[in-house]
Order: sequence, then C-alpha cells, then structure tokens
Amino acid sequence: MEILTNFSLKEYNSFKINAIAENFVSVNSIDELVEVLKLKEYPSKYILSGGSNILITKNIKGLVIHINIKGIHEESKKNNITEIVAFAGENWHSLVQWCLKRDLGGIENLSLIPGSVGAAPIQNIGAYGTELKDVIISCDAINRETGKIKTFNNKDCQFEYRTSIFKKNANYIVISIKLKLTNKKHNLNLSYKGIQDKLDESNIKIPTIQDISSAVIKIRNEKLPDPDKIGNSGSFFKNPIVSIDKIEELKANFNNVPFYSFHKNKYKIPAAWLIEKAGFKGKTFGDYGVHKDQALVLVNYKSAKGSDILNLSISIQKAVKLIFDIELEAEVSII
Ligand code: EPU
Repeated sequence: MEILTNFSLKEYNSFKINAIAENFVSVNSIDELVEVLKLKEYPSKYILSGGSNILITKNIKGLVIHINIKGIHEESKKNNITEIVAFAGENWHSLVQWCLKRDLGGIENLSLIPGSVGAAPIQNIGAYGTELKDVIISCDAINRETGKIKTFNNKDCQFEYRTSIFKKNANYIVISIKLKLTNKKHNLNLSYKGIQDKLDESNIKIPTIQDISSAVIKIRNEKLPDPDKIGNSGSFFKNPIVSIDKIEELKANFNNVPFYSFHKNKYKIPAAWLIEKAGFKGKTFGDYGVHKDQALVLVNYKSAKGSDILNLSISIQKAVKLIFDIELEAEVSII
C-alpha cells in the first residue's frame, strides 16, 4: 500500500476533472482499509469509490482513499433464488455481465450504469423501471471511527429515490453488497416503454434477461454520453417531486407537460424537460455545457474546472426556479 502525494484524480472521476488529492491511497482489502482509517497523521479522509456520481470543485486536502476491494461470489442457491455477494471495488457493469453470463436475473435493467458496486447503494441506483432496493438483501459497511463492520439489511439502508442512509450519514463505508437474484424463472421488467420498443425493433417476441440488457444498452448509448469519451456524471439533478396542484398549474401554462405518478398524490416531473424548456439543452460554454440529447446531463468536453460546472448548475437551478417555481436538487455529490 503506497500513499502518493499531489495525485491527479482525473482518471478517478467520470467528469474527468483534473483536481489534485494532497495524498492518495488505493486499498485492495478490508484489512488495508481498516489500517488506513487508523492513520492519525491524516485527520481528514475522503472515500472515493467509482467517482461516477461526484463533481470535484476543488483540490482535496488530507487523504483520499480509493476503494479497490474486489470479488464476486455465489453465496447460496435455493429453488429460484441465488444470493450473490459483490465487493465495493468491482465495476457495476462488470457485475451485471457476471450475472448475465450465469443467467442470474434482477439487475439487467441496470446495465451500463457507470461506477462501482460500493457506490450503487449510496444513491440507490435506478434506471428503466428497476432500483437497486428491489434486489438488495443487505450491505456490509465499515464504521469509519471504530473500524467495525456492520450489516445493514434492506430496511436499515433506508432506500428512497436516489438516496439511502449511506448518503445521509457518511460515517459508514460500504464494503460489499448481497443481492437476491432469480436463476430460472425471471421477472422481466418491461415497464419502461423504450425497452419494449427496442425488443420490437429486433423482432424479439420472448425476451431473455440478456435481451433486456441489450435493449437497455442501446437506449443508454442513444441518449447518454459515454463518460470515457465525454466527461459527465449521468443525471446531474434529481427529478423533482411535486403535488397535483403544481401539475395543474404547469398544464395551464405549458403544452404536453410530462409527469409520472410517484406515490400518494405526488408526481415526478422530468428535470430534463424543465431544463430543456429553460433553454439550456445543447448549450455549450467553452469546455463544458448541457448535453445535446439529454438535458439532465452536464458535460465536460475537455478541461473544464469543477467550479465551471457547478456555476452552470446554479444558473440552471435559478432559471428553473424563475420560470417554473420549482427547486432542482443536485443528484451528484458536490465536493
Ligand atoms: N426529456 C426532455 N428533454 C430531454 C430528455 C428528456 O424533455 O433532453 C423528458 C421527456 O419527456 C422524457 C422524460 O424527460 O420522456 C424522461 O427522460 P428519460 O427517460 O431519459 O429519463 P430521465 O427522467 O431524464 C431518469 C434517471 C436516469 C435513468 C432514466 C431511465 C433520474 C435523475 N434520472 O432520467 O438515471 O437512466 O430515468 O430510467 O432519476 C442517473 O441517475 O444518472 C440516470 C442517468
């Protein structure tokens, strides 16, 4: 384990922001993580997982700890359910592929989401009708202060739309997750209309989980920029949740307002629609801007600073507030 100084985080965040960590260490095991957490000479420690849901706006003082703990295994198999355990440093999409190869179903709709396994429960990743909370049994996490491991069952994790106990309380570092997957009879989730359209295009009548994954990958590739080519963090904001009165007010002022029932008289409005209506879609400001195909995605074309992107996000929030009287909340963590 080597502690590096003045280390560029450019390749460790999907926005590709060239921020500098005063000190940086990559840990490959739980023991190494526990050892590093004990180091008194670095009172300030920042935990970095896949780096796909953060915007770094300044250089980071203290010690950045990169979680690189690997491993995926089958824990048990009974009737139609296989339980698997995956460690935090695995790449999320590699885990999806590992499952598809073994015909294990439940996370195929979450194909191609950038980032690591350890980051997945933090914001309860979700896409195309599925959320991690639908398949997760438990998470093991280390208490930063005591170094002790605690198992959080699904309920303990307090999963909600793009959040969990781990996002609200940074005291715990996720080290592994346990998932409950189907191994024979799969419950395909075709609730997102675009998936059925893609299956129809390929003339697939009886889809497999592998077909669903391919459909999701096609949709993502059409709509979302590849972070290996254009720096981005996926959706920058959460979709706001509003009352029926707000929907009625919007309908009175705008045509074709898109909205979805969330729960109990609450509705989700696509933030992308609000941002597009506010005139930001496809706008570029030098090295950065708003993606041309998905207004919810802010992008770094080359060497933008994190603060440039933060300022753009604030301008978007102000414009949406002014036009619609709706507050957009950032989905990415701003550092
Ligand atoms: N829309 C626009 N303009 C755009 C793009 C979309 O008006 O430029 C409107 C359209 O009405 C469209 C609607 O927004 O029907 C929804 O768009 P989309 O299906 O692309 O989904 P989203 O609400 O923008 C959410 C998630 C994505 C997830 C997709 C699919 C959030 C914050 N984002 O986006 O998650 O992949 O649904 O399930 O909930 C992420 O979290 O990083 C992410 C990419």
